[in-house]
Amino acid sequence: MFSKAFFAIAALAVTVSAVPSPSAVCSGGRRASSKACCVWFDVLDDLQENLFDGGECGEETHESLRLTFHDAIGFSPKLFREGKFGGGGADGSIMHFADIETNFHANGGVDDIVETQRPFALAHGVSFADFIQFAGAVGVSNCAGGPRLQFLAGRSNVTKPSPDLLVPEPSDDNDKIFARMSDAGFSPNEVVDLLISHTVAAQDHVDASIPGTPLDSTPGSFDSQFFVETLLQGTLFPGNGSNVGEVMSPLGGELRLFSDNNIARDARTACEWQSFITDHSLMVTKFETVMAKLATLGHNPRTLTDCSEVIPVPAAMKLPAATLPAGKSLADVEGACAATPFPALSAAPGPATTVAPVPPS
Ligand code: HEM
Repeated sequence: MFSKAFFAIAALAVTVSAVPSPSAVCSGGRRASSKACCVWFDVLDDLQENLFDGGECGEETHESLRLTFHDAIGFSPKLFREGKFGGGGADGSIMHFADIETNFHANGGVDDIVETQRPFALAHGVSFADFIQFAGAVGVSNCAGGPRLQFLAGRSNVTKPSPDLLVPEPSDDNDKIFARMSDAGFSPNEVVDLLISHTVAAQDHVDASIPGTPLDSTPGSFDSQFFVETLLQGTLFPGNGSNVGEVMSPLGGELRLFSDNNIARDARTACEWQSFITDHSLMVTKFETVMAKLATLGHNPRTLTDCSEVIPVPAAMKLPAATLPAGKSLADVEGACAATPFPALSAAPGPATTVAPVPPS
């Protein structure tokens, strides 16, 4: 009896001592593992209140998440090997040198969020590089079923403009996208993992006549619908016809990117794509893993301070299982994973689905 209790207490002591105890008390009595993290609680309060409209998964969240990519992917070991400057990765250069980088064709539309975010970073005295990754992580934690991304702080404010042509375009073919992403360190399946972001996404510039048109029917929810709907046969253009980087989508009010369409159907990536349809927790875990890599491109993570405790824990909620949109059947699915059949989803009831635009906040 004694020995059982003793071992139970001893085991508990080991468990407790393995958890690093927060050593700094920050504003509002919140605790952080390092004093250097305290400023991020103040940034968090400001962002949730004044950028994300009290913690919504709306337009600013989507734009902030997109910006994490457009800053970080400006990183090319290939260019460095050729003796050229290959970019600083997640270095804030898109904000420092907005006059240069927001004019790159692939960065169309990011100028708005860059200028919206800039005063927040300046007000709190944090680096643009850290701020961009922090805002993306906080924003996506607001989305139903969303991830809790790692956040490391300490990127410096010293950098140079990224070279042009490092950000993939929606009109690029798969080989071009995979080659560019491989240069930055991502496998084709990791490109799919990054594209999980498009589950909370809308477009303004591919077809400028229909701003706010989402890429799936549930842009406020970090669910798997994007992976279902991109595999349905395209039947219509939601706006003014075919645009560069666009292919037909299956639903009124929804736009499909040429690149998403092709990556969903590529033998190299089709199974990763399909795997998320019935496994939301896998989708969240893969996104958390790949975003940790994206957010530290161009940095040695060991030189940064882990302030992940500041990122809100997304509200626990059970999302509805992925469905075929109302009016669709399995005959409309263009499944492309040779190893696994497309899951037997049922169709939502009611008249054919039409998707509403994301309202500007
Ligand atoms: C193959 C790589 C990618 C391509 C070609 C691509 C392309 C695009 C395009 C064309 C848009 C619409 C922009 C507009 O018209 O306003 C978009 C939106 C978006 N992208 Fe990507 N993207 C890629 C990867 C990523 C990654 C890695 C992330 C984040 C980790 C991301 C996050 C987003 C988000 C959140 C939006 C919605 C923005 C909004 O609603 O304002 N994308 N993407």
